[in-house]
Amino acid sequence: MARLVVVSNRVPVPSAKGGTAAAGGLAVALEAALKSRGGLWFGWSGKTSGDREIEWLEIRDHGNVTYAVADLNRRDVDEYYTGFANRALWPLCHYRLDLTDFSRKDMAGYFRVNRSFARLLAPLLRPDDLIWVHDYHLIPLAAELRHMGVKNRIGFFHHIPWPPADVLSTLPVHDTIMRGLAAYDLVGFQTDYDVENFAGCMIREGFGKSLGHGWFESYGHKFQVGNFAIGIDTQTFVAMAEEGMKNSIVKRTCDSLRNCDLVIGVDRLDYSKGIGQRIEAFSRFCEMSPSAKGQVTFLQITPKSRSEVPEYAQMQRDIAELTGRVNGSLGDVDWTPIRYVNKTLGRGALAGLYRIAKAGLVTPLRDGMNLVAKEYVAAQDPTDPGVLVLSRFAGAAREMDGALIVNPYDVEATANAIGRAISMPVEARRERYNSMMPKLLEHDVAAWCRDFLDVLSANEEFEPEAGLR
Ligand code: G6P
Repeated sequence: MARLVVVSNRVPVPSAKGGTAAAGGLAVALEAALKSRGGLWFGWSGKTSGDREIEWLEIRDHGNVTYAVADLNRRDVDEYYTGFANRALWPLCHYRLDLTDFSRKDMAGYFRVNRSFARLLAPLLRPDDLIWVHDYHLIPLAAELRHMGVKNRIGFFHHIPWPPADVLSTLPVHDTIMRGLAAYDLVGFQTDYDVENFAGCMIREGFGKSLGHGWFESYGHKFQVGNFAIGIDTQTFVAMAEEGMKNSIVKRTCDSLRNCDLVIGVDRLDYSKGIGQRIEAFSRFCEMSPSAKGQVTFLQITPKSRSEVPEYAQMQRDIAELTGRVNGSLGDVDWTPIRYVNKTLGRGALAGLYRIAKAGLVTPLRDGMNLVAKEYVAAQDPTDPGVLVLSRFAGAAREMDGALIVNPYDVEATANAIGRAISMPVEARRERYNSMMPKLLEHDVAAWCRDFLDVLSANEEFEPEAGLR
């Protein structure tokens, strides 16, 4: 079997003691994918090292995975990560033109860092390696590797939403971004909507033509595009949730609830997650249901994220203020409606907290997939499961038909859904859980990985009949 080389911006290198650094959904999924197959994981260490140019790698073996990571200097972090990736591409892909801040300097930094990554990665490659690049930080990487003579098959997976042509074309360099994607052999998206949007951008903006069955031709290169919804390591998470009931944080939470029902939300502090709208909805639910007073508590766990980006720093202040206001006006001496925690909790504790929560609120304004939605369901006790309240704008809503699907912009409707979730009879809850769990078990992270890599390794030549799912 060919060696797998995974490239992602953030690489959670295990510490000497065996634990990993804090990781987002992408890193957790890739960790699970690499664990079974082994291979090389290349990317940024997450560290900023003064002014030094990126010219050396730290290489460390851990189990069957070799980690190769580089530090970035201050300027690279500012321009490539904070600037172009997180102030231009991220808001653009989440349909937030109002927050998109495009700068030519940042764009130059983005391409410079991708070139440096390609220069460091190329000498580590073997001729038959399968290269799998992840997410919006690294779109130009394949083109840079090709310039250096790399002939391997290279796939790209876009973890976040892909916007429609009208949105994408507001980015002054969108043609270069599209050209970067066309240099891959296979480009994967989370949902059929993202694939449609991508095809719309390709064809309507005149960058290439469709050859049918997911194949495109652009800039003289034929490549495949497909929909590969990411999954979780379902069985491991089920076991983690059972075990999580013994976790001290979960026990402390149970004790402190004193028979209150728990509603939970877990997100990075990001404007795409709809945390403000969710707090408004919970507040509205409490106003509408006098019996909720003292009987229901909403725990929102929100680790701080990308605080160096001004829009995130502003949001941090806004959410803290909103939470304070709701607690001040609705709370009582013996009841805090919203517990707001800016901490990163261990996955065992999170799994246990999901299990004791009667409702999980996953209500992003736009999200590629949202793995918290899948984890919340996987963590439930099958005999007495909680209910998932899920935004129609999360990729997960395309699969999770047992959730209560809401429009997060509609505060009133979300408030109603919270009420429905909490009071739902156990038979209805079981039915919903049973409709989702088999899919979570079948389409887990290993299946996602296998499906993508099977297509990547098979698509050597354009075959018009070889359709994707
Ligand atoms: C999202 C992105 C990932 C990213 C993660 C955490 O899930 O798709 O690429 O790693 O957020 O964000 P951060 O900026 O801290 O890496």
